[in-house]
Amino acid sequence: MTLSLAPMTVDWASQIADWRYEAPLDIYNPSLDSVGAMLDGSHLAILDDGEFVGFVCLGVESRVPGGPEPRDDVTDVGIGIRPDVLSERLGTRAGELVLETLQMAGHTALRASVLATNERSIRLAVRLGFCETGSFLASRDGSRFVVLERELLA
Ligand SMILES: CC(C)(COP(=O)(O)OP(=O)(O)OC[C@H]1O[C@@H](n2cnc3c(N)ncnc32)[C@H](O)[C@@H]1OP(=O)(O)O)[C@@H](O)C(=O)NCCC(=O)NCCS
Repeated sequence: MTLSLAPMTVDWASQIADWRYEAPLDIYNPSLDSVGAMLDGSHLAILDDGEFVGFVCLGVESRVPGGPEPRDDVTDVGIGIRPDVLSERLGTRAGELVLETLQMAGHTALRASVLATNERSIRLAVRLGFCETGSFLASRDGSRFVVLERELLA
């Protein structure tokens, strides 16, 4: 079970568009429209022994309308694990790999916006060393999100 990251492909992005999470994670259900945005370099595929199991997104694609403004010194991040393999610690292992990879690539701080009721994701972020720094209401539907940040030491 070796995790790795790879550039997103059309095939994997199309698979993501078909993913369906159950409530309360259904807010993260992607749409067909999102395939193009996943191919602009903002998304990386997460592979487990070569099998596609999730993705990480960086920058604008991981921000939530109504949330904090972009900052040059902070990289916004988001992660998604395939719905049929949730809660198998893939998110934790992939998160550790992403931190290591982004640190080596020169990123100095990370920020994640997570739905306040998304206990699994908040636990994951805290486990990975993120601290809550604020909250906001999404402009789309007024749902509350928490903002978590983590520095990456050089
Ligand atoms: C959030 C997500 C990436 C976590 O990945 P995962 O592989 O499911 O989670 P893990 O198995 O690594 O567990 C992470 C933490 O959640 C906890 N957890 C697992 N299942 C849970 C559940 N059903 N309810 C609450 N907590 C749960 C685990 O115990 C663990 O916490 P711990 O380290 O304190 O024990 C994944 O659930 C996902 O893709 N969700 C949909 C998209 C999303 O929420 N993205 C995050 C916003 S950017």
